[in-house]
Amino acid sequence: MELNDKYGREFKTLRVSLLSTCNLGCVYCTMGTEEEETADHKPQTPAAVFVGHIARLHEQLDLKTVRFTGGEPLLYRELPGVIEGVKALGIGNIKMTSNAFLLDRMAPALKEAGLEYINVSLDAMDSDSFFAMTRRKQLQRTLKGIETALACGLDVKINSVMMKGKNDDQVLPLLEYAFSRNIRIRFLEVMAMGHLFGHAGQYLLSQDEILDTIATRYNFNKLERKSSSTANYWQTDEGHVFGIIANDTEPFCIDCNRLRLDAEGNIHGCLSDNHAILLDDYDTEEQLQQKLRMAMQQKQEVKFVGSEMSMMHIGG
Ligand code: 5AD
Repeated sequence: MELNDKYGREFKTLRVSLLSTCNLGCVYCTMGTEEEETADHKPQTPAAVFVGHIARLHEQLDLKTVRFTGGEPLLYRELPGVIEGVKALGIGNIKMTSNAFLLDRMAPALKEAGLEYINVSLDAMDSDSFFAMTRRKQLQRTLKGIETALACGLDVKINSVMMKGKNDDQVLPLLEYAFSRNIRIRFLEVMAMGHLFGHAGQYLLSQDEILDTIATRYNFNKLERKSSSTANYWQTDEGHVFGIIANDTEPFCIDCNRLRLDAEGNIHGCLSDNHAILLDDYDTEEQLQQKLRMAMQQKQEVKFVGSEMSMMHIGG
């Protein structure tokens, strides 16, 4: 179908949230309550259901990229199977966002199944800060997962969510780690999602503040932004590239090409909109197209305005 809005936005990237659970307790995502940590979780949606939905969406939209998110996708039992199913649909780029805790064990099978790119969430290089951000102690597990993924030939990037008063002293250690391992790193401004809805401002470490910190150690120049890229990129005089995803201070809604599918079979056109649109197996083509038009209308004109949903449910 032809689907674009008055800004020429299309849906070309589908982010699939495979489940709503995670093995970390990151402070921007969860409150760390007993209930959250011990929640009894629903059965997982079968891979065939996801592949069926993705096939129907691909037929309408000619998707270029599918990214698996979560919750934590490595906790999804049929992950290699769902990757194989999507690859068989002929979708060019298959990517995943993960905390890499279980990656050491799973990277070879994922690469084999057709995964090519992985964004690893890593918010600190020091065990105490890592614990302060994730409520888990094993920073080494994440680092080991990254090494195994690199050794398997996966293209690895790092996402680091920065929070004032929590991990703002980690900008340079993270940058130096990424430069030393030749991995592309992006710092993220924290978004007002989930329990941070309405009061993320106190934690915001802005793009300018991140750049000021980096400038104490490096000289750098801005690179040109590619269309629908979430990140701004800079290159240091030594040739290292880093990015910042300035959700708050330099929003990028205007050429956003993302559609989201959650584990309950709902589509969402925008992270800011809490209105889920349920896909049904018996939707006619006309009904499906109408739902996609509704999802397109959810996109914001200017910037992310916050959401009560956390990334645990809707992925990044
Ligand atoms: N603000 C910014 N980034 C977030 N992420 C999860 N929640 C938030 C938030 N509130 C990040 C994760 C991961 C990606 C999916 O988004 O750390 O890197």
